[in-house]
Parts: sequence; C-alpha cells; structure tokens
Amino acid sequence: MKAHSAAWLAAVALAAGVARANRPDFREQIVVPGGRFGLGTDHIEFPLDAEGPARPVTVKPFVLDKYEVSIDRFAEFVNATGYITEAERFGWSFVHEKALDEAVLQTITQAVQSVPWWLPVDNASWSHPEGAASDASGRGSHPAVHLSHADADAFCAWAMPGGRLPTEVEWERAARGGKEGRMYAWGNKLKPRNKHRANIWQGQFPLKNTARDGFKWAAPVDAFGPQNQWGFHGVAGNAWEWTATEWCDPARPAPDCRGKQAPADAGDVEWVKKGGSFLCHKSYCFRYRVAARTKNTANSGAYNLGARCARDATPEEQRLVESGSAVQVGAPEVGNAVPPSTEGVTDGAKVGYRPGQHAAAGADEL
Ligand SMILES: *[C@@H]1O[C@H](CO)[C@@H](O)[C@H](O)[C@H]1NC(C)=O
Ligand SMILES: *[C@@H]1O[C@H](CO)[C@@H](O)[C@H](O)[C@H]1NC(C)=O
Repeated sequence: MKAHSAAWLAAVALAAGVARANRPDFREQIVVPGGRFGLGTDHIEFPLDAEGPARPVTVKPFVLDKYEVSIDRFAEFVNATGYITEAERFGWSFVHEKALDEAVLQTITQAVQSVPWWLPVDNASWSHPEGAASDASGRGSHPAVHLSHADADAFCAWAMPGGRLPTEVEWERAARGGKEGRMYAWGNKLKPRNKHRANIWQGQFPLKNTARDGFKWAAPVDAFGPQNQWGFHGVAGNAWEWTATEWCDPARPAPDCRGKQAPADAGDVEWVKKGGSFLCHKSYCFRYRVAARTKNTANSGAYNLGARCARDATPEEQRLVESGSAVQVGAPEVGNAVPPSTEGVTDGAKVGYRPGQHAAAGADEL
C-alpha cells in the first residue's frame, strides 16, 4: 500500500479504533460535509454533456464509500444473497476488443458500428470480466464491473443500512474534496510532479494503451492513493461509477428532467455516470475531469462500469463534519443480508442483444 502523505493524514481525521493502518478492506467510508459549491464547469469540453456552466448547488452532509466497490465486496454480496446480475441474465456484456484473446475474438460475429472496439462477449460478467474463459480470482481488489444500474442499487442497499447510489451532486462534491473550480480531483495538472494520479489510457485510443500509469485495464481500487484531500480513491479513472441522477435532455437546463418522456422499460432509463475510466484518453473521452459526466441506459453493462455507494449521514456524523472537513469512518456492518428485491430488474431473457440500444450506450461512454 502506498504511504499516505502527512498532509493527507492531517486532513482526514481517523475515527478511533476503526482505522486499519496496514490493509484497507475497501469498505471504509468518508463523511462529507454539506454546503454550497459549484457543480460543473465553465471550461466546457463536451457541450452535449451539459457539463457547464458551473452553477451553485447545496448539499446536505452524506457518507460515501472511500473506494469503488471491489470484486471481493461484490462476491460477498452474491454469496450472501444469491443475486444474479443483469449481465448474467442477458448472458453477455461488452468488453474492449484489446482485452480479449484470439479464441474469444473468433467467436464474435457482431459489433457496434459506431464503437467497433466494444464487443458483446458471451458470459462476460463481474466474475468473468473477459468472458467465460476468464475469471476474477486474484483480482478481488479491482472494481466490480459489468454492473447494471439495478445491480449497483441492489449491492448498495445490501451493503449498509440506508445504502444507495450517490446523486451526481453528492458524487461531485466528494470528488472535488472541498476545492472549487479545479479540473481534476487533485488540482489542475494531470500529472503533478510528473506523477500519474489516475488509471486512464496512455497511447493511441483505441489501438494501443502504453500503460505508462502502470495499468492497461482495471487497477486495484487503491492503486493511486487518495486523489483529493478528503481521501477518496479512484474518483478519476479506473471504473465509471453509476449515480442516482437521471440524465436529462441536455437541450433543457440540466439537471431538470421535467418534460422528459419516461421510457416504457426501466432498463431504458438513462442515468448519469461519473469519473471516467481506464479507457479514457484525452483525444476521445476527456471525462476523468471532475465536472465531466455522461450516461448509460440502466441495463447497460460494460468492462469499465462499476459503482460506489452512499448513505445519509447520521446526526452524529453530521456533527463530525460541521467544521467543513471530511472525516473517515469505519466500515459499515457487513451486509444486512436481506436479499435485494429484483423488482425493476429487467428480464434478460426478454431483452437479449439489442445492438441499436447498446450502440447508443457505447457511443456515449468513451
Ligand atoms: C459464503 O457464505 C458462507 C456462509 O453462508 C460462508 O461460509 C463462506 O465462507 C462464504 N464464502 C465467501 C467466499 O465469502
Ligand atoms: C455461457 O453460459 C451458459 C450457461 O451457463 C453456457 O451454456 C454456455 O456454454 C456459456 N458460453 C460460453 C461461451 O462459455
């Protein structure tokens, strides 16, 4: 594990008795102070993403996972509940072509024209990230991916009392770490002192990832250390993270969804996702900026799409952050072991492979 800087330790008060100096178990959480801050940016890179102009928003104190949900945590959830993810119901998910070996590539006959590097791979899922022949063992510290919105919701509801996905406003509040107007979670320079701060793509997308940051694909959820002074890891790069905020027509003033026609199928609802991924390169997906946002339909699954969980702060936790500094708290009780409801989960058998719909999701994503 990387050594934490003295400044970071000073900024994050560790609750007595819960901090584990040597090995984080990736269930720690951070209480984020409420307040008013600027959401979005005036330096707009993608106008159609409605990422600007910056606008003041107010948020109540809340609690957010310090790390992306790891494969180990998700495995614990599946073991306790028997949950079956949507990718498993569908029987396939999208994987980047360069992550696949020749034997798998030869079985694939379909591709999405606008994003030909995304290939539908049989039996790809959180536990088989590159398809049936792959498995996640030895990668327990990596982010759980191929999660649909409903899968992420179900995990969060199980993982802690009151567990849920963060809203976009909460997510961005946490990722900014109390600093206004910055480009990245840690500041304005992508590589301060020439040091990589996030797992993104180096080289020519989508042909070659030189992995100068140390990782070609997903990385352990703590691989780059805290990315801001509140102690959050992986809010830039690694896996995209679902939020609880519905994506609105950018022609309307975001985030107002009034007037947007609700899709008939819950699986077609579009949700905001934040953070960018290990596939993001400035030339194509400059979305590891803290204000960046894009979307996927609820039932999308992909090799680079995961989550982190939030909950409301208790009154005691709210008092802890009155001074305006974030405070790390221990892990919640392991799961509440209540099998999640599958209501609203799309029936994979009915849906199957719908190239058109997923083409749209894929194109938004990178
Ligand atoms: C799965 O759950 C059982 C008890 O329900 C437990 O004995 C076992 O260790 C668990 N396995 C994992 C991998 O968590
Ligand atoms: C995918 O899983 C199904 C159901 O377990 C199985 O029948 C099928 O052979 C698997 N496909 C591949 C390519 O392994």
